[in-house]
Amino acid sequence: MSDTPGTDTTTFVIFGITGDLAARKLLPALFNLACLGRLPEDTKIVGFARRDRTDDEVRELLREGVSSVGGMEGHVAEWDEFVRGITYISGDLTNTGDYLKLDSHLRDLEGPGSSGRAYYLSVAPNLYDDCVRELGAAGMCAEDGDNWRRVVIEKPFGRDGASAAALDQEIQAVFAESQVYRIDHYVGKETVQNLMYFRFLNSIFEPLWNRNYIESVQISALEEVGVEGRVDFYDQTGVVRDMFQNHLLQVLAMVAMEPPNSVDADALRNEKAKVLQAVRCPEPEHAVSAQYEGYTSLPGVAPGSTTPTYAAMTLRIDNWRWQGVPFFLRSGKALSGKSTEVVIQFREPPHLLMGSGPNAESAKIEPNTLALRLQPNEGMHLRFMSKVPGGGTATRPVDMRFNYDDTFEGQSIPDAYVQLLDDVVRGDQSLFTRSDNIHAAWAIVDPLLEAWSASDAPPPALYRVGSDGPAQADTMLEAEGQMWRAG
Ligand code: BG6
Repeated sequence: MSDTPGTDTTTFVIFGITGDLAARKLLPALFNLACLGRLPEDTKIVGFARRDRTDDEVRELLREGVSSVGGMEGHVAEWDEFVRGITYISGDLTNTGDYLKLDSHLRDLEGPGSSGRAYYLSVAPNLYDDCVRELGAAGMCAEDGDNWRRVVIEKPFGRDGASAAALDQEIQAVFAESQVYRIDHYVGKETVQNLMYFRFLNSIFEPLWNRNYIESVQISALEEVGVEGRVDFYDQTGVVRDMFQNHLLQVLAMVAMEPPNSVDADALRNEKAKVLQAVRCPEPEHAVSAQYEGYTSLPGVAPGSTTPTYAAMTLRIDNWRWQGVPFFLRSGKALSGKSTEVVIQFREPPHLLMGSGPNAESAKIEPNTLALRLQPNEGMHLRFMSKVPGGGTATRPVDMRFNYDDTFEGQSIPDAYVQLLDDVVRGDQSLFTRSDNIHAAWAIVDPLLEAWSASDAPPPALYRVGSDGPAQADTMLEAEGQMWRAG
């Protein structure tokens, strides 16, 4: 981890400040950090977007956004002071002159001392390259001494390996990798970070964390919401680019990577890169593409669209630790509920002492599982077999549970952006995706995306809104003698 040397001023420059992400995530997170006293003194926020607006109009828009997510509760007085640090510049993202105007505004705010700037690209992904190029053209990227310049880039980073590489080329022409913060909000989630603490601060699980004791791993991110309101983006993107290439593969990397030598950003990202590079591309016969019924009737969806809103796939990791252990991943929209979790299924005991003779039926066992619940009802559940009290030999699975709500009573789990924006200011890249991690993840899903978009590819399977997903996803696991498990 690194700490930013003391600069005299810190500014967040938010491109696309009038959009949804800024109002619902970025500003609430920055305000929260300000209330906690975790932002450097006198941090400024400068918004940049196309439409002409006054500072006050933008401030009001942001106040509404922060209120709508409950960010003002108990902090109305602090808002008045915070909001004075927000100013707005209108301009065209493709016009160098407008960046020069922005730069001059920033210089006026910063004064003669040293300055830190975080450029946050909260704009449509097809504008990332323009934005980065123009920042370079306006001479706004170079660091010197205590003057730091960082760029924060939202996912999706490219729409395949080739476009991600092209975007990286644009970025690397003007920024060094140490200045680039590719954000994946899943990695900033408290419970996802805890995967590492759980694995590497305890000695009881790590000896079991390999092919000798683990039968399979499941990673699920199931959502109740559909794609209403985001059709333009979603129909071009689909669930694999939206959820697998980034969020789910980052979670997989944290579950499966080797212990890093330290928590230094590069030590961590080296291990993630290594494990992602060892993941074999899934064959189409080990993957399911599906779409919820009624999706193609949504306004804005292309007629006959085959964009998957659900996918499941079996991944294999070709290394010593994981050889032969399937990793089952699934994610989808418009399902019966929201649930994100990792379920580790352990192998059966080598010999069933209580599993033979006249009581064989009552001794039927369920595998041990460890469910890491990432959201909601955050916690961990260990399931094992127990004898049912009484004279007989009946057994049943029981749970040992750790729930955040009970254990950390009164401490709410902060939104991922709070941690991530704090890290940007402190210059800690540990929770941000390095270029090689992005490319390794695209290399896993690219062949599948290509196969699914071929003209002779079968259409996605259909599933009912509010269901648990398509039957084909169950069949995929049954073929491996397994079933989806909930923790
Ligand atoms: C975003 C995706 O990155 O993550 C959305 O674009 C998805 O489609 C969201 O709904 C899920 O995030 P969370 O934090 O609600 O699980």
